[in-house]
Amino acid sequence: MRLRNVLPAVGAFAALLIAGCNHMPGAPRAQELARPEDQLDFTALYKTNCQGCHGVNGKNGAAYDLSNPEFQALIDDENLKMIVTLGMPGCRMPAFSRQAGAMLTDEQIDALVKGMRQAWLKPAAFGNDKPPAYDDDQKGDTAHGQLLYGSHCASCHKDSPQQQVTSPDYLALMSDQALRTIIIAGRPDLGQPDWRNDKPGQPLSGQDVTDIVAYLGSLRNPASNAAAPAAPVR
Ligand code: HEC
Ligand code: HEC
Repeated sequence: MRLRNVLPAVGAFAALLIAGCNHMPGAPRAQELARPEDQLDFTALYKTNCQGCHGVNGKNGAAYDLSNPEFQALIDDENLKMIVTLGMPGCRMPAFSRQAGAMLTDEQIDALVKGMRQAWLKPAAFGNDKPPAYDDDQKGDTAHGQLLYGSHCASCHKDSPQQQVTSPDYLALMSDQALRTIIIAGRPDLGQPDWRNDKPGQPLSGQDVTDIVAYLGSLRNPASNAAAPAAPVR
């Protein structure tokens, strides 16, 4: 920071200290001024850092529906924390931790993870069904994925231009993990079904999901750098 920018702040700080000593009515004491790193309230942290992309109360944003109880039940604390800490390679999910050069402390990231769990996790989200695993670093079968895309996805995704999930431009912005999450847990805020409900009576297996992601990945522009494996970096 340049000195020119610091000096007025120092002046204001000194003025507050003096005001505090004099007990000037209505003036805040210096120690009451909140520093950004002291903010540990989930609602405030979410609003400042996440809401712009993930939407008010976790849904209806451009990015994933974090309030989806199936998503919160699918992902474990470790992966959730890692994604907020380091970001998600291959899509526009930024890193938030100081270790990655951003603003949030470890305590703040813990407060975000805990807050999302408290607000949005419902332990019975899947009823008696067992969902496919959150991540999978195996290589899928592209040809089988294409067949499944035809039987389970194309009915809704063929015609409308906003729903062109096979477009290389769209896929360039979505990592394999982001696609996998959407296929398994759905996006209830948009109307995307979960892995059980693309085609009634024919739920997808974990391998099926891996194969569909491999097919979609094969359509990505090879020049894009989004071809990260369907697993966050460790
Ligand atoms: C600049 C936009 C942006 C901001 C700000 C942002 N995210 Fe994201 N986030 C994304 C995108 C894009 C994805 C990729 C997946 C998608 O949209 O479906 C994503 C994915 C995620 C995922 C993983 C979902 C999955 O597919 O498994 C989590 C968890 C997440 N964000 C949490 C957060 C939290 C918590 C914050 C605030 C600290 C935050 N994000 C702020 C854009 C953003
Ligand atoms: C019953 C209809 C239906 C079926 C079946 C379906 N989808 Fe969707 N899907 C939707 C709707 C509706 C949206 C939301 C579109 C929007 O608002 O952008 C959506 C959104 C998506 C998105 C997110 C688009 C975005 O805005 O980021 C992806 C990815 C996706 N679908 C993939 C799939 C795949 C892969 C399958 C097959 C396994 C599938 N869908 C099956 C209706 C369906």
